[in-house]
Amino acid sequence: MPRSRIISTGRYLPERIVTNEEMATLVPTSDEWIRERSGIRQRHFIHKEMGASDMAYEATKVALDRAGLQPEDIDFIVFATLSPDYNFPGSGVLLQHLLGMPQVGALDVRNQCSGFIYALSVGDQFIRSGMYKRVLVVGSEVHSTGLEYNEHGRQVTVLFGDGAGVVILEATEEEERGILSTHLHSDGKYALELCLINPGSRKIPRYYDGIWEDGTLYPHMNGREVFKHAVTKFPAAIKEALDANGLTPDQIDMLIPHQANLRITEAVAQRMKLPPEKVFSNIQRYGNTTAASIPIALDEALEQDKIHDNDLVVLAAFGSGFTWASAAIRW
Ligand code: ACO
Repeated sequence: MPRSRIISTGRYLPERIVTNEEMATLVPTSDEWIRERSGIRQRHFIHKEMGASDMAYEATKVALDRAGLQPEDIDFIVFATLSPDYNFPGSGVLLQHLLGMPQVGALDVRNQCSGFIYALSVGDQFIRSGMYKRVLVVGSEVHSTGLEYNEHGRQVTVLFGDGAGVVILEATEEEERGILSTHLHSDGKYALELCLINPGSRKIPRYYDGIWEDGTLYPHMNGREVFKHAVTKFPAAIKEALDANGLTPDQIDMLIPHQANLRITEAVAQRMKLPPEKVFSNIQRYGNTTAASIPIALDEALEQDKIHDNDLVVLAAFGSGFTWASAAIRW
């Protein structure tokens, strides 16, 4: 059975940088408050109208170029986003069109902060089954235009940024390399702890009087509840990935966690007894880019020569749903 291997990566961050100082002009907050609680110093926001698919297009061009591939060399797209260009159709088809690809399948994945690992797992299964040879896996988010810029929304608004990251998966017959395993979980009991309710299909009428006033058009987060679950579910997911492959935490060469919050990442590293140099963090510069954070981080870690052949790379995520997930990769 073939395995899948990540043969190329790419990222795109829109050019507008919003520092914490500028954020403090948009909502009542301060650089100190944001940095102390999240580690974030700045984030990127789109500088003109562009959707998740447009940013993914820019990141994909980089990944294709690096791999020496053309759009027609890709057999399938898996696109993870919670901020699609339109409610429907999904951003995957828009990316297929932007790239001028043949009429390959395009699937959107809606698993928020865990979305990229879910998408990676889907791509991996298609390759393992022999159905496809190369799959483009995308995480892309435009948060900036959907945040609540006032005191009510500030707890959420200061945390998020825009960006896109992609990887290209390719089938390999090498037995020891590639994606070793992926692990996916959810617990919908906590769905409303981190959510964006409206416009939602369960409301009659869907666009009711008061929809603008009741806050449901903006993300809602119970920050403390999210934090509490994140610091246990991240380590559990990492341990599951290690156990499945007969590995131990000290064998990890690089942990790439979803960039939720620097405090969450530090707590996870501490619980897993991982030194800082084995845990990648870039939330300081990008904020939380949700489904895009892992592929952006992976791309930067590779660029900074922090991942080498045969390294054990572990990806882990936790977020809205709640959902959590992990992947073990022999690079
Ligand atoms: N700037 C200034 N003050 C603020 C802000 C802000 N942006 N937001 C909230 N406050 C105020 C509150 O109003 C409150 O004021 P009060 O004491 O007068 O009532 C005070 O700061 C403390 O608010 P809390 O909500 O209690 O802040 P807390 O210390 O819990 O930190 C935070 C909030 C940072 C969100 C924290 O709960 C957290 O890190 N949770 C994890 C959530 C997370 O990281 N989510 C990422 C997205 S989900 C994911 O990717 C997994």
